[in-house]
Amino acid sequence: MGAGTVSASDGAAAVTGGAFRFPQADADLSSSRTGSADYRGTVRFSAHHGQLDLRLSNPRVEISSSTRATLVVDVRSTSLDGTTTNDTSVDFASLALGSAKVTATNGAVTWAGAPATLTSAGAEAFSGFYEAGDALDPVTFTVGADAANDGSGSASGSAGGSTGGSSTDSGGSSDDDLSAATLSSSQVSPGDDVTISGAGFGASERGIVAEVRSTPQVLETGITADANGRAAATVTIPADLPAGEHTLLLIGADHTVSAPITVVASATSAGAGVGTADVPACTASSVSGATLAWGIKSSFRAYVTGPIAGGSVSTSGATSSGDAYRWAGGSGKFNTDRTQGYASWSGTVQFSGHDGLLDLKISNPRVRVTSASSANLVVDVASSDMSGVKSSASGVVFATLSLAGNGGVSGSTASWTNAPATLTAAGAAAFAGFYAAGDALDPVSFSLPLGGDVACDAGTGSLASTGSDLTAAWFALLLVLAGTGLVVVRRRSAARV
Ligand code: HEM
Repeated sequence: MGAGTVSASDGAAAVTGGAFRFPQADADLSSSRTGSADYRGTVRFSAHHGQLDLRLSNPRVEISSSTRATLVVDVRSTSLDGTTTNDTSVDFASLALGSAKVTATNGAVTWAGAPATLTSAGAEAFSGFYEAGDALDPVTFTVGADAANDGSGSASGSAGGSTGGSSTDSGGSSDDDLSAATLSSSQVSPGDDVTISGAGFGASERGIVAEVRSTPQVLETGITADANGRAAATVTIPADLPAGEHTLLLIGADHTVSAPITVVASATSAGAGVGTADVPACTASSVSGATLAWGIKSSFRAYVTGPIAGGSVSTSGATSSGDAYRWAGGSGKFNTDRTQGYASWSGTVQFSGHDGLLDLKISNPRVRVTSASSANLVVDVASSDMSGVKSSASGVVFATLSLAGNGGVSGSTASWTNAPATLTAAGAAAFAGFYAAGDALDPVSFSLPLGGDVACDAGTGSLASTGSDLTAAWFALLLVLAGTGLVVVRRRSAARV
């Protein structure tokens, strides 16, 4: 059996309910409740004899406003292809503080249940199997000046914090939270209807959209607010929305409300019995000899080889023909029942221009099909910015692909032709600020020849009952993440600060 393990160390500890608790090491909170707090400890997920190994250490919460914070962690991650990265201070998740319950006691402030969304940098730690924007479990954290009169004489009287002891804070209930949505039910099954409502939109604002995330799916468009800026919509939870924590949102022109929602599998089986033997068997097909054709972005190709950049494009392990670069010999797995799977290729396209200042390499594309309508394109990127600063990253979720109507499984091939591609924020970083998230890239075509049966894994959308080690490993990892709330507690920091 290759089931994985999860361990907590260096001060972190597992607590009931599948959460982890990290003691506070240091904190600096201003009177307006912005600032940061450092916590200490490591949680390690490892499986498949170390082939999958992810360590999250020393979380820090950086609070930038009453509604926003960033969860920063040190990440050491070994991905499926065996590469290990070690990054400190990764902006791992954004926290929607507007939806957290805020309480204040004796100068220590607790935010409970802040919805957390994976950032693109955080997604990299998961080898592209999660996307930026995916919902993580909510985060609870406490930032505290010490209860007792704080020894304010003691030291570097951390700026605004000095008021900490004096005002016994009236509890944070005063701000009417405009970013929280109200749901008719916070626990639903696929196919259920749920009503979401919220305030703070423009008076009679039109065109509000209801969306569910992790992977964003629009549920309803054209919602109109009333004269007081309140909007509501009754939406149906998509039948294929996986069980777990999600977020429902109403998105207006410049205001969004959201609320966490738990999706539970409909009556059938499984339910809480995740560890039991009645997980349905699942087989996928092996993929080999896969091909990929993608021109990246035609205007960029023209710019690089044109008079402004005066540069050139070269390939290695990929070829250039017509308007596209082509990769062949890709391999992976594909589950035709679920239209989920993945393939990866090796080979690089390199753009150079401005006498070498522009130097962008896009390598080793992977396509991950997540449903009949969407996929993402993951690549390794090396680039340099306008000041010549070079950076590189592997496993960047570079583009999202829209598959609907552009192909599917036919006979023994899964293929899509000219699937529209949209740049992600992580992908945009490679272009020195000249493109933005959401910009259209050249469409992507790929063909995955399907071979013999292989065990499913997380990337093929289901979990085998018997499974390979790898399957079991992913199973363990996903399970744990699904149950992982990060609980951060305050510990009196004695004579520190
Ligand atoms: C000496 C440094 C650079 C200069 C003077 C420069 C200049 C320009 C100019 C004038 C344009 C506008 C082209 C047009 O509208 O047709 C442009 C576009 C662009 N540049 Fe640069 N650039 C430089 C470096 C870079 C670097 C390092 C990158 C990194 C990849 C980059 C990426 C881009 C992109 C993506 C566009 C948009 C192309 C398009 O789709 O139209 N540039 N640049």
